[in-house]
Amino acid sequence: MNKTKVGTHPFIENRRSPRAFDPDRPVSSEALFRLLEAARWAPSANNIQPWRFIVGQRGDLTHQKITSALSDGNRIWAAHAPVLILAVTEEEGERGTQRYAWHDLGLATSQMIIQASSIGLYAHIMAGFSKEEARSVFSIPVEYAPLTVIAIGYLGDIEALSEKLQAREKAPRVRKPLEEIAFQNTWGERLS
Ligand SMILES: Cc1cc2nc3c(=O)[nH]c(=O)nc-3n(C[C@H](O)[C@H](O)[C@H](O)COP(=O)(O)O)c2cc1C
Repeated sequence: MNKTKVGTHPFIENRRSPRAFDPDRPVSSEALFRLLEAARWAPSANNIQPWRFIVGQRGDLTHQKITSALSDGNRIWAAHAPVLILAVTEEEGERGTQRYAWHDLGLATSQMIIQASSIGLYAHIMAGFSKEEARSVFSIPVEYAPLTVIAIGYLGDIEALSEKLQAREKAPRVRKPLEEIAFQNTWGERLS
């Protein structure tokens, strides 16, 4: 659990990006659709809803393809996640360049991972994968950009990870202090 001066919702407080997933505890179809619904109802610029999701479930070809596109450092742990979702956003639409496409995909995935937290699931977003391979194996059109892969599942055994990954898993979570990110009156003036 993270420490904050004032409390936040437990779904936010308890969320973190784990590397130890339980490979033997699948995510139910109902839970999976709940996560996708949470993403679907995110706000977006002009309600364009640029997000698209390619969903892999452990044992299926989509999961294998996403796993193969991951960087070695991510594949070593993320391959065990029961669900791997490739998150894609539409950069070019009917009205030209969609400048908020990345922002809006981020909002949708944010809702997805908070929803996951609310039902005991954990999610770990990754940028470390081959965008070219993902585009190729899923025939993603040029207007769409594959941005992240989200590993989702229940917590697994940390001891099953390598020592290096165990250390990262146990390391304290850190954040910039509020003074550094929230201002009033002028840039850099601390909010009181
Ligand atoms: C866009 C994005 C890309 C990320 N890429 C990776 C990644 O490739 N591999 C990884 O292990 N974690 C990745 N992360 C997870 C971050 O490292 C993690 O969210 C951050 O360290 C804060 O930890 P927390 O989510 O547990 O609070 C990524 C997160 C985001 C939002």
